[in-house]
Amino acid sequence: MIFSPRLSEIVDHSCEVYIKYEGLNPTCSFKDRGMTVAVSKAVEQGTVAVICASTGNTSASAAAYAARAGIKCAVVLPAGKIASGKLLQAFAYGAKVVAIDGNFDDALVVVRTLGERDDFAIVNSINPDRIAGQTTAAFEIVDDLGDAPNVHLLPLGNAGNITAYWAGYKLYREAGKSTGLPAMIGFQAAGAAPVFHNRVVEKPETIASAIRIGNPASWETAKIAVRDSRGAVDIVTDDEILAAQRWLATNEGIFVEPASAAPIAGIFKCCDPARRPVYPSTQIPEGSRIVCTVTGHGLKDPEVMADTVIKLKPVAPNEQNVLREIGF
Ligand code: F0G
Repeated sequence: MIFSPRLSEIVDHSCEVYIKYEGLNPTCSFKDRGMTVAVSKAVEQGTVAVICASTGNTSASAAAYAARAGIKCAVVLPAGKIASGKLLQAFAYGAKVVAIDGNFDDALVVVRTLGERDDFAIVNSINPDRIAGQTTAAFEIVDDLGDAPNVHLLPLGNAGNITAYWAGYKLYREAGKSTGLPAMIGFQAAGAAPVFHNRVVEKPETIASAIRIGNPASWETAKIAVRDSRGAVDIVTDDEILAAQRWLATNEGIFVEPASAAPIAGIFKCCDPARRPVYPSTQIPEGSRIVCTVTGHGLKDPEVMADTVIKLKPVAPNEQNVLREIGF
């Protein structure tokens, strides 16, 4: 977890903002927390192959842990919608990759059916072992802070992570490790916001491909987490997501993929009454501790940054030219 002085300044009112950075897990996303448990359990049960639908990160993680366990891995992905770093990972770890003419929700329907066969174990977050593994993120946060935070912001896609965090915070409080529970605030992309609108989105669209999901599997448990924690679900636009991604990289040195920037865009929205946030920062008590989970590494999705990389024109190798190019 990384303290963010600049976000704390923006929220003000003596609040402290921390970034729970998940980009340094073995396959560079939060999925590894649940995947190591799900694959271990699958092996324990004698499974020979794991299968998942994915927007990219689940497939990268499943492929890695299956390779390590010596079992087969099949991943079913929406064609043309996976960030190149994630797709490359699935191939690198030796998974069988199947692209479908459809979106993530269509892929999950196929995987649910195939999972009924004895030879496949599903390792999507509909597998409770995935959720159990992901509760560790909440444990770590409480261990680091010495108590639960007041508010927790995170991206909301298939809704497994918000379900897992809420379960983790509750388990840790029951174990006497914390005294309170945070308000859980989930952020969806404006073009892929079924939970926010309370209806299935047939054709979800967003630059944040990881959360391009129209019918989340853990929808009900996400709603319970938001209701019981007195939290909220809000939306952020693609432009806000990209601006937040750039802001976090250039102001805190933390480079995350677009979906991961949703809660950062979200915190900006919460602090700006003009944007009519569902959870305005005025609702956050003075001196609160706020955690934002950023779920995956920025290098997973180089395409979205391509426009910001200026085409370099080589200059002669001398000091004057280099200084001129730097702008000194
Ligand atoms: N952030 C990233 C980087 C993700 O990859 C995902 C989900 C989420 C946020 C949303 O988390 O689904 O638990 O609400 N990615 C899944 C995948 C769907 O297939 O990799 P969630």
